[in-house]
Amino acid sequence: MDLFEALLERRSIRKYTNSEIPAEMIEKMLKTAMYAPSAMNLQPWHFVILNNKESILNAFKAIQHAEMLKQAQTGILICGDSEIEKNIEYIVQNCSAATQNILLAAHGLGLGGVWVGVYPDKELIKNVKATFMLPEHIIPISLVSLGFPDEKVQAEDRYKVEKIHYNKW
Ligand SMILES: Cc1cc2nc3c(=O)[nH]c(=O)nc-3n(C[C@H](O)[C@H](O)[C@H](O)COP(=O)(O)O)c2cc1C
Repeated sequence: MDLFEALLERRSIRKYTNSEIPAEMIEKMLKTAMYAPSAMNLQPWHFVILNNKESILNAFKAIQHAEMLKQAQTGILICGDSEIEKNIEYIVQNCSAATQNILLAAHGLGLGGVWVGVYPDKELIKNVKATFMLPEHIIPISLVSLGFPDEKVQAEDRYKVEKIHYNKW
């Protein structure tokens, strides 16, 4: 798939078929995640792969508004390592870049995915940390819910010239 097509046509997909995601596809998404930019190239991320129904349903119990997890075939929990990157603001930005790479790679592979926010909701962070036994210094930032799409979401026109400012506001 052409890069520009992928960027403009990616949409959040919240309905999935029963087909399993092959391990090679998950590996490809993880690879693109680890190629994301990060402050000082510290790459302070970890990925917890939820590849069985029990783990995915546990994620749903921890993040109860994330209904789409009930149908998801795989989940990828993107976490930041506060021993590698001390500044939480950078952890969030770095993990967000990795999250977006996963979503774009998923789209390129014909998968559907949606970003489920965890950070900065204190309750969600606490639930997710406890559910997946994350060490103290590991901070859950986002969860990507994945599967083969069982819905079509049209691309929409978001280009707004009034959002663009040249040289000064
Ligand atoms: C930080 C962040 C948190 C999000 N959290 C959720 C979420 O908890 N549940 C959900 O269904 N979508 C979530 N989304 C997806 C957005 O709703 C979605 O990206 C937005 O509506 C734009 O639609 P699109 O992804 O189809 O372009 C989140 C997106 C971001 C960037």
